[in-house]
Amino acid sequence: RILILDFGSQVTQLIARRVREAGVYCEVVPFNTDTQRIADFAPKGVILSGSPHSVTTVDGPRAPDIVWEMQVPVLGICYGQQTMCAQLGGEVAGSDHREFGRAQLNITEDCQLFDGVWAKGGSDQVWMSHGDRVVRLPDGFHVVAISDGAPFAAIANDTRRMYGVQFHPEVVHTPAGAKLLSNFVHQICGCKGDWTMAAFRDAEISKIRHQVGSGRVICGLSGGVDSSVAAVLIHEAIGDQLTCIFVDHGLLRQGEAEQVVALFRDHYNIPLVHRDASDLFLGQLDGVTDPEVKRKTIGRLFIQVFEEEAKKIGGADFLAQGTLYPDVIESVSFTGGPSVTIKSHHNVGGLPERMNMKLVEPLRELFKDEVRKLGRELGLPEKMIRRHPFPGPGLAIRVPGEITREKLDILRKADAVYLDAIDKAGLYDEIWQAFAVLLPVKTVGVMGDGRTYDYVCALRAVTSTDGMTADFYPFEPAFLGRVATRIINEVKGINRVVYDYTSKPPGTIEWE
Ligand code: XMP
Repeated sequence: RILILDFGSQVTQLIARRVREAGVYCEVVPFNTDTQRIADFAPKGVILSGSPHSVTTVDGPRAPDIVWEMQVPVLGICYGQQTMCAQLGGEVAGSDHREFGRAQLNITEDCQLFDGVWAKGGSDQVWMSHGDRVVRLPDGFHVVAISDGAPFAAIANDTRRMYGVQFHPEVVHTPAGAKLLSNFVHQICGCKGDWTMAAFRDAEISKIRHQVGSGRVICGLSGGVDSSVAAVLIHEAIGDQLTCIFVDHGLLRQGEAEQVVALFRDHYNIPLVHRDASDLFLGQLDGVTDPEVKRKTIGRLFIQVFEEEAKKIGGADFLAQGTLYPDVIESVSFTGGPSVTIKSHHNVGGLPERMNMKLVEPLRELFKDEVRKLGRELGLPEKMIRRHPFPGPGLAIRVPGEITREKLDILRKADAVYLDAIDKAGLYDEIWQAFAVLLPVKTVGVMGDGRTYDYVCALRAVTSTDGMTADFYPFEPAFLGRVATRIINEVKGINRVVYDYTSKPPGTIEWE
């Protein structure tokens, strides 16, 4: 197994993902993790991530010394390379020549890291994102590749099996990057590459049994892939020691609540409490227009209702959550200033602390597509596994401005028509998320002989790998035309349909 030390880069999670794709188990931990924990993990290799910080400042994060002392291979990426150099006796300096985006890498030496991809004299595209750069190498290191902006773009110390790259091998814009990381974990660290989802499932089931013993577990179900997979996995491990709570906030899509109940209660026979709390939620959201207030209100009520139901069940010792790796990473904080909150996604953050229960989080180490693989391994219906992500606050953030039952009904119908058309056209799986938004704008139209004055519906569809960046989906205009006609014909209350051509950044996926 491989340990990844996180210095706060936006793309650290992608390193973990590439390592797993190479069939090797890995974990990401903050750079300042306790030395004993690192020793106990006994990694066969360590990868140091990038960082928004600068090695040249005194309070820039540093790797704990145990990393250099464990006698295992180390790969430093970007900031990881710089701190490795700085900590081992080299030098890093700020530079006028910042490199962002695609860069041309020239290979100056053969290196085990490059096996099967690059050879001396070759050249390839890599992705760079740095201001500082290494200016003097520590003893024992030599340069193996250079770029215009980085004379030490890749370095190696073959004796100590330490390597550093200034570019980012974990992102897709470095086409050879996945192979480089696979070389590191297989050839250099000697990991076997036999980690599979079936192995994960079995290991997780015994972990859950061991953790829970004869205790009782409650799990919040949202209808999404993550909580569903978590619930089925836990049920497989401990059977009816698990009870699921499904808080229906009245902001779900068409037919969603019924599907959750049918799948869990009727199909899987998992004890399920279904609480219809739509009156409470919609009542409290009455007149609320600010997106952050909507999120906070929904988060607060969710916790309140969940707690009420948990009390009624009584006697549970554990709270299960479908927390994924990206959530874990996002909530890792480290010295060096807060990052900006664009949207407060962790809408039910605080639930575990309040309930004072121990957590069961069997998906903590997985990415979304890995959760889907696990879902298949567990035999969940394909339809559930393929589902696009859906935000916790639901349709509340797809009705910009004031939310009313009438608007929600209109939106639900339009959204269902849109998703149905996408599904029938065979496009559902190409898209990360597709949904309708009901704009707080009415426009004039003409239907039959009459004038209409109805809402505008915006359609959104994006491709993405992780939700952090996204591109709008390039539908054929004729397809959009057909969907617009269907929505206007089938949904009373909408007389105009527009398509959103914004990518993220600068837009976000949701409209609020
Ligand atoms: P944005 O709109 O920030 O969305 O580009 C990125 C991803 O996060 C989802 N999203 C949320 N999920 N609670 C959630 O659980 C939220 O408040 C929330 N806001 C956005 C969004 O659907 C997309 O997948």
